[in-house]
Amino acid sequence: MRAPQVFIETFGCQMNEYDTEVVRSILKARGYGFTDSADSADVVLLNTCAIREKAHNKVYGHLGLLKPLKEERGLVIGVLGCMAQNLKKDLLASDALIDVLVGPDSYRALPDLLEKAAAGRKGLAVDLSEYETYADIVPDRIEGVTAWIAVMRGCDNFCTFCVVPYTRGRERSRDLISVVREAEALAASGCKQVTLLGQNVNSYRDGVHDFADLLGAVADIRGIERVRFTSPHPKDFPDKLLEAAAGHPKICEHIHLPLQAGNDRILQLMNRTYTRAEYLALVARIRRRCPDIVLTTDIIAGFCSETEAEFAETYDLVEQVGYHSAYIFKYSERKNTIAARKFPDDVPDAVKAERVSRLVELQRGMSLNKNRALIGKTVEVLVEGDGKYADQWKARTDGNIVTVFPKTGHSIKPGSLVPVRITDATVTTLYAHPA
Ligand code: 5AD
Ligand code: SF4
Repeated sequence: MRAPQVFIETFGCQMNEYDTEVVRSILKARGYGFTDSADSADVVLLNTCAIREKAHNKVYGHLGLLKPLKEERGLVIGVLGCMAQNLKKDLLASDALIDVLVGPDSYRALPDLLEKAAAGRKGLAVDLSEYETYADIVPDRIEGVTAWIAVMRGCDNFCTFCVVPYTRGRERSRDLISVVREAEALAASGCKQVTLLGQNVNSYRDGVHDFADLLGAVADIRGIERVRFTSPHPKDFPDKLLEAAAGHPKICEHIHLPLQAGNDRILQLMNRTYTRAEYLALVARIRRRCPDIVLTTDIIAGFCSETEAEFAETYDLVEQVGYHSAYIFKYSERKNTIAARKFPDDVPDAVKAERVSRLVELQRGMSLNKNRALIGKTVEVLVEGDGKYADQWKARTDGNIVTVFPKTGHSIKPGSLVPVRITDATVTTLYAHPA
């Protein structure tokens, strides 16, 4: 009999991309095959994100597109991930299209639920776990020169705007040795860069080791040329971690350091646990130790009760720090979060949008200047694959900036570390020639 074919579509963050690889591994072990379109699938799984309203809407849009396929040939449809966790029975009850709902800690239950669904019984598995890390599951990856490894899951911070502590549950870490084994296996298969993932990656601790130990251990693996990590929380950046990151040449000179807001009252309402001054002191400490570090960030504009003067402090801080790039979001109220329960979402949408566009404008100018300042310099890039055009390579600098250069030398291939000279720059991309 032909193996049932599964099509998985992934929304949201890198952790979801990783989880899709875990799900593929679980399903493969139970005899499922994979296809790259819903048209040829028996089962369609949407691995969803709940972080902002936009993410939700996107999933509803895709579900709508699946309706005719379901009616035509009884496709089994599953919703996985954060939205499944968050909406639980609501989603199953309100939407006749959905057969299976599985939250981020319950992927081991998926094969059984799919079998039941094929026999016409809907099902859900949305229990959160204090222990599930999928440490024993080897993700089914598309082989390449870069890979993600989830080293911790969940979040205990309860930033008041954020749904993650509810959809992904409490913090838990894998043993250092299980991460090292996974990275060694990746190195043996030709992978050159590993990104360590966690909702709060620098809270990693396995009872014996902390995150600095883990970073060092992965960077020591022969064959791994670059180690990245995302996302750290500014509250947890001891000198030991900075020393590990700065002292090891394979740990990339890029830190994504989510700011969220630059005003103390808003930071407190958000429960970020640091002040503006503390954040700036951390940036100064990082830059003293690593002067060439590339800093990027996340910002939320228009959080509950944010005044124009308070927003101006965020704007000022962004300008002061001079990030290389930033993700800038409109505040989007999420059901059941502390903010949704305690504070009215009272900044008008147009004001939120206008604040976002002012910040985006500021950031684009700074990104362009920073990229232009690299013109004429020679930097080492890791080749990831073809660029937009087949006669170009797409690569990244140590600081994670996308760099495109023409295919000239025959010895260059994906995974090569190549010195290139930067010849031109846009807001997002560097253009180069082999040096
Ligand atoms: N509204 C807008 N942005 C949010 N983020 C998290 N929750 C929300 C929300 N409710 C942003 C934060 C976080 C990033 C992953 O998403 O900036 O760092
Ligand atoms: Fe959400 Fe805050 Fe946890 Fe990040 S640290 S996942 S923003 S609660």
